[in-house]
Amino acid sequence: MFNLFKKKKEENNKGDQYLSLKIREVVKETPDTVTIFFEQPEPYLDYKAGQYLTVILDVNGKEERRSYSLCTSPFVDPYPGITVKRVSGGLVSNYLNDQIRPGKTIEIMKPLGNFVSEYHSKNKRNFVMIAGGSGITPIMGITKSVLVNEPESKVTLLYCSRSEDQIIFKNELEKLEEKYDGRLMVIHNLSKPLDSWTGLKGRLDAEKIKDVLDSTVELRKDTNRFYVCGPEGLMKTGIETLKQLGIPDERIMEESFYSDLDAKEQEMKEAGLLSPELTREVEVIVEGESFTFEVPAGKTILEAGLDEDVDMPYSCQSGLCTACRGRLISGKVDMIEDAGLSESEIAEGYILCCSSKPASSDIKINIE
Ligand SMILES: Cc1cc2nc3c(=O)[nH]c(=O)nc-3n(C[C@H](O)[C@H](O)[C@H](O)COP(=O)(O)OP(=O)(O)OC[C@H]3O[C@@H](n4cnc5c(N)ncnc54)[C@H](O)[C@@H]3O)c2cc1C
Ligand code: FES
Repeated sequence: MFNLFKKKKEENNKGDQYLSLKIREVVKETPDTVTIFFEQPEPYLDYKAGQYLTVILDVNGKEERRSYSLCTSPFVDPYPGITVKRVSGGLVSNYLNDQIRPGKTIEIMKPLGNFVSEYHSKNKRNFVMIAGGSGITPIMGITKSVLVNEPESKVTLLYCSRSEDQIIFKNELEKLEEKYDGRLMVIHNLSKPLDSWTGLKGRLDAEKIKDVLDSTVELRKDTNRFYVCGPEGLMKTGIETLKQLGIPDERIMEESFYSDLDAKEQEMKEAGLLSPELTREVEVIVEGESFTFEVPAGKTILEAGLDEDVDMPYSCQSGLCTACRGRLISGKVDMIEDAGLSESEIAEGYILCCSSKPASSDIKINIE
């Protein structure tokens, strides 16, 4: 079999960020979602609840990388797991739902991501989670971690699914609610329920969010933490509503799974925000080693680097996960998507190579 991990190691004589994981179990959560549990490697996989790992697969002879959030908690679950929901026409999500069996080994990039929390047994906080569809994955790991580590903290989870049979972790959530009676409240909202459904239904809007929050948490307490993850529309509604309610940005954590880079680029073009596309030479320093290559007009810096076989780190290729983050030492780039970066990272000069195109001639980027 084509061994991507071995190839990377041989070519680069490094590979600290790569790892092989053996699949222990595959659990069907809903008709279009599976959870894949991995055997613990030696030493144990080091991760924080809410982080994602990058699967690296050979699909039809081509290397494919995708990010998947860990649904497990390192404090509770003996085996790390990811939960993958099919995307219509999607290459990797359908491959993982259909082709993956226990015993198989897959290559990953070690966990990354800032959609996490710190925990302390003396904390007394309210966590409000707003999740939609597969966005429950990182929130599940964080919820379990809060409940076990902070006996006086509470979690309110507002979880949107299409229909009852599409609710991921339905049974596990019910069991957690029973076990942590009074500390975990799960409120489901279904967009297309059966007539028999008596819970919240229809599109999630600001009114519904406000109603749920009014009845469950004292909003303005500065110990409260808000986590939002799901489809673009739900995230926009969730975040805007929290801001309207006066929740400061630093207490709202968000994780996006998808960004349509082409559409965003078109919008920026129409708004006159993009520089003329020219072929430019760039220098990229990857872990101390310098590579100079041309970025043809129309390509991102990551695309051009990979075309030149430079081992630049990457995962989502859509400006969300930060695996390709580098610091711009000189020059100027047009960054089409910067959702993965914090404001302070942007102020410090960090860019995402997968969503950046050169906008000047003296570009030098350092990837640590
Ligand atoms: C940080 C991070 C964490 C993630 N965690 C999870 C997770 O826990 N579980 C999970 O199931 N997924 C997760 N994803 C999404 C995942 O990485 C893939 O993008 C998703 O599985 C689709 O890959 P694919 O190869 O099947 O689709 P592709 O073959 O890449 O795309 C097929 C088509 O669908 C469109 N598309 C791709 N993804 C979406 C989407 N989410 N919504 C709408 N259209 C889309 C594409 O533009 C394309 O037209 C995460 C993404 C990020 C960035
Ligand atoms: S590869 Fe995910 S942000 Fe660039």
